[in-house]
Amino acid sequence: MTESEIESVLHEDRQFPPSEAFRKLSRLSSEAEYQKLYRESIDSPETFWGRVALELPWMQDFDQVLDWSNAPFAKWFVGGKLNASAVCLDQHLSNGRADKTAILWEGEPGDTQTYTYKELHAAVCRFANALKARGVKKGDRVAIYMPMIPELAMAVLACARIGAAHSVVFGGFSAQALRDRVEDGGCTAVITADGGWRRGKVLPLKQEVDAGVEGIDSVHTVMVVRRTENEVTWKAGRDVWYHEAIQDVSEDCEPEPMDSEDVLFLLYTSGSTGKPKGIVHTTGGYMVGTYLTTQYVFDLQEDDVYWCTADVGWITGHSYIVYGPMANGATVMMYEGAPTTPHAGRFWELCEKHKVTIFYTAPTAIRTFMRLGDEHPERFDLSSLRLLGTVGEAINPEAWMWYRKVIGGDRCPIVDTWWQTETGGIMLTPLPGVTATKPGSATRPFFGVDAAILAEDGTELGPNKGGLLCIRKPWPAMLRGIWGDKQRYVDTYWSDVKGAYFAGDGARRDEDGYFWIMGRVDDVINVSGHRLSTMEVESSLVSHPKVCEAAVVARPDEITGQAICAFVTLGKDVEVTDALRTELNAHVAKEIGKLARPADMRFTDALPKTRSGKIMRRLLRDVAAGVESSGDTSTLEDFTVLAKLRGDGE
Ligand code: WTA
Repeated sequence: MTESEIESVLHEDRQFPPSEAFRKLSRLSSEAEYQKLYRESIDSPETFWGRVALELPWMQDFDQVLDWSNAPFAKWFVGGKLNASAVCLDQHLSNGRADKTAILWEGEPGDTQTYTYKELHAAVCRFANALKARGVKKGDRVAIYMPMIPELAMAVLACARIGAAHSVVFGGFSAQALRDRVEDGGCTAVITADGGWRRGKVLPLKQEVDAGVEGIDSVHTVMVVRRTENEVTWKAGRDVWYHEAIQDVSEDCEPEPMDSEDVLFLLYTSGSTGKPKGIVHTTGGYMVGTYLTTQYVFDLQEDDVYWCTADVGWITGHSYIVYGPMANGATVMMYEGAPTTPHAGRFWELCEKHKVTIFYTAPTAIRTFMRLGDEHPERFDLSSLRLLGTVGEAINPEAWMWYRKVIGGDRCPIVDTWWQTETGGIMLTPLPGVTATKPGSATRPFFGVDAAILAEDGTELGPNKGGLLCIRKPWPAMLRGIWGDKQRYVDTYWSDVKGAYFAGDGARRDEDGYFWIMGRVDDVINVSGHRLSTMEVESSLVSHPKVCEAAVVARPDEITGQAICAFVTLGKDVEVTDALRTELNAHVAKEIGKLARPADMRFTDALPKTRSGKIMRRLLRDVAAGVESSGDTSTLEDFTVLAKLRGDGE
């Protein structure tokens, strides 16, 4: 076994082919067609992507599809000019979608707004003109720190329209996190709101901005959208109300012709070490990638009501709320608030009310709903749903089955989509009219994605051998670098494995060529020389009916090298007893083997998660080893969780 190999112990044999009913109406419904297109996309990527790209409205044609001569720095659609906001808006004014609903929005308190494509276009033009009037121009960077309101999507598109790169900072981040990002990006303006609604309370965003940009001279403008009408402090000269700024400006704003490789946005991801990385995405390739993936992965049809529950502050929101769906002229639903406010069935109520047909969410949300009980979704009519998706983490088969049965009524295909901030768009995914899905697998590569399981030396591993999930060819929506740090880009993504992109995930590929993500390789546990995937041990724990969520980490052990420490949250009304510990240990032994039995099992009400719902195993490792956490904790959602786990919170 090589050093990078991970043993796989998960067995999952269930398969769910798309139903005839779904297949009949879907965009792509035959395996042969998928194979033909996939082969072309790998063997002749320039033909494939060149053809797809021509479906977008270019302002000037490109003269070369791909320039990879300076690898790993890619150029796609060289010489072409386009504007991302024109792709998302202007083309729909003349293709029959002008009066189609673009945004269907609901606030947490239940207020609603809708915008047709024509209305959204006008609003974005005014927003863009208001920014211009404040001196924001092509090539600038603008930070956006907002709640999930329509103006967030408008702000993003307005920046794109005038050629300023946006840097969206999730509204749940602290003033310090905002400051770091504004400084690193050299932002000259910040767009925010007085506040946003979250769990029945006002999130005071403007206040955070005041603290976050205090003393940063480069920021000449803070534009504030009025949402919650809470008191805000005002810095004359710098601060401007959005509703005032858009009053005297025109509804016409010509989209700036952008070079295909001009920066569209920066989006920061936090590594486990070092300062956050400003991932750079450019215009042409990103638009082509998100356009095509949205179309095929979600099997988008003209009358769909599409709801991705992510926040625009994450890449999922960029690619699959704003750019991808709007490039396709979709009706996009947006929701401001928390999934369980004011009641545990809120998401399902929204699905019923707005007749959502495509629903895309994260495994952490699915597990939460599972724990809350079936009675909540059962109160609502979910028959409008026709397709479900998940992203953000591996979904354990248990949660996948629940999602399929309780939310999807055993009728909707599930697309488990694997990708990253860095990849810009979906990389591994079922195609819902074609792929027979397996619970817990992101299945196969999307068009143009040359994914493989490799060892460090670049050799490909055989079926069911866990190794490094790598991409061997450039793809249009790939990151172009890390803002201000070329070398870090090369070192972080293109140096671990010879000749391939590798960004930290371990996986295996089964005998049918399906990929199974095994978690971050940094999280792999080595027990007596066996390298086990955290995800698989967690999945076996969660498959026990009394367990809701589990996170598994290694702690040092004199005998076995590392021992498994499991943090477990239990289902409703389950009591912690010694018998339960024994039962769970026996369950893991049966599912995986005695080797994988946790040496420590700790029960907890909540796990430390990032604000996008990923478990922060790095912090749990410190808790398990009984040491203070070092490193960045600014992305932790709830600090009290950590204190409680350490035992100093109670
Ligand atoms: C994880 C989110 C398993 C993975 C789009 C990846 C997943 C990281 C999946 C990127 C999935 C995302 N199955 N793991 N379907 N989707 N991940 O940058 O570890 O927030 O590397 O992008 O999330 O997270 P990011």
